[in-house]
Amino acid sequence: MSKRDIAIIPGDGIGPEIMDATLAILESVGFEANWIPLEAGLSAVEKGLPAMPPETIDRIREIGIALKSPTTTPSGKGHSSANVALRKALDLFANVRPARSLPGVQGPFAHKDLDIIIVRENTEDLYAGIEFQPHPDMAQGVKVITRPGCHRICLYAFGMARRQQRKRVTAVHKANIMKLCDGMFLEEFYRVAADFPDIQADDIIVDNCCMQLVTRPEQFDVFVTENLYGDIVSDLCAGLVGGLGLAPGANIGIHHAVFEAVHGSAPDIAGKGVANPTALLFSSVMMLRHLGEYEMADRITNSVMRVCEDGKCLTGDLGGRASTQEYIAEVMQHAKAS
Ligand code: NAI
Ligand code: MG
Repeated sequence: MSKRDIAIIPGDGIGPEIMDATLAILESVGFEANWIPLEAGLSAVEKGLPAMPPETIDRIREIGIALKSPTTTPSGKGHSSANVALRKALDLFANVRPARSLPGVQGPFAHKDLDIIIVRENTEDLYAGIEFQPHPDMAQGVKVITRPGCHRICLYAFGMARRQQRKRVTAVHKANIMKLCDGMFLEEFYRVAADFPDIQADDIIVDNCCMQLVTRPEQFDVFVTENLYGDIVSDLCAGLVGGLGLAPGANIGIHHAVFEAVHGSAPDIAGKGVANPTALLFSSVMMLRHLGEYEMADRITNSVMRVCEDGKCLTGDLGGRASTQEYIAEVMQHAKAS
């Protein structure tokens, strides 16, 4: 049987290290693909190309599926985000970010069994990139919210909740202040919710949501929200279950899917061989499920859970001393034995 093509973007900072680790584990459980490396991020910019070169977008459009490491975007200056460009070009409107407790992972919420999924709208909101400066001392940014955009993300969230037998979907918003933008989001949320009577639908204002997440996070099931709130709330949820090193994500469109971790390129630890590859690895597990490879997906998840529970071979972000290589060797050993 011919192998399927999958695009990979090694990315910046810790990107190449965690990509190598992830591919090694995928291959160790017998997953075969024709990996097609594509350029994006700093290496593209250094060659005078956009951070997300049009050729890379075209190749992913043809291939349909990609596994992506983080790419660096400078703050306040320099090139614009490769991620935002890719999400917009391929209309990857749903950003799905699960946050689930793992056995043995320490932290203030270690005693709670958390299993939250954030469904973040991925193409609109303040990420529309419409900024201007009418005066040296004034800058303005435009928040773009459309009714079809609200409708499809809410429909995706309820559909996903039903497929995964979830009980509740909560809309996160600030409609008390942004009455038109977030008001429209909320209106579409309840319109869609009416078609899903089997799922409890409610809403929460984003600031209260953050407070409740750090006091009673176990009450939440699925969140659906706009782009910026989703970005912030998903990092918060990652922190609740052990940090960014564990938090995966998927960017889903009608015809394309790009799997990537929640975290960035972590320049502070790049090149040291200490990055935790689990977030990208779990993103690749989401990719395996997307491809129907449930057995391999379960095998990798269970192996990571065993290594975490065991606690002897964890990376620095989880309080251990293991290198990336030592950690993946341990995960591979469990995966092969299972
Ligand atoms: P970051 O997520 O790269 O790092 C935040 C903190 O978490 C750092 O202390 C880092 O060492 C740690 N960390 C992150 N991932 C880790 C891992 N796998 N293992 C162990 N520790 C890990 O966020 P930061 O520093 O705000 O951004 C760095 C760059 O990444 C920026 O240029 C930003 O634009 C970019 N970025 C890219 C994303 C993407 O490509 N999808 C997403 C988020 C940020
Ligand atoms: Mg983010």
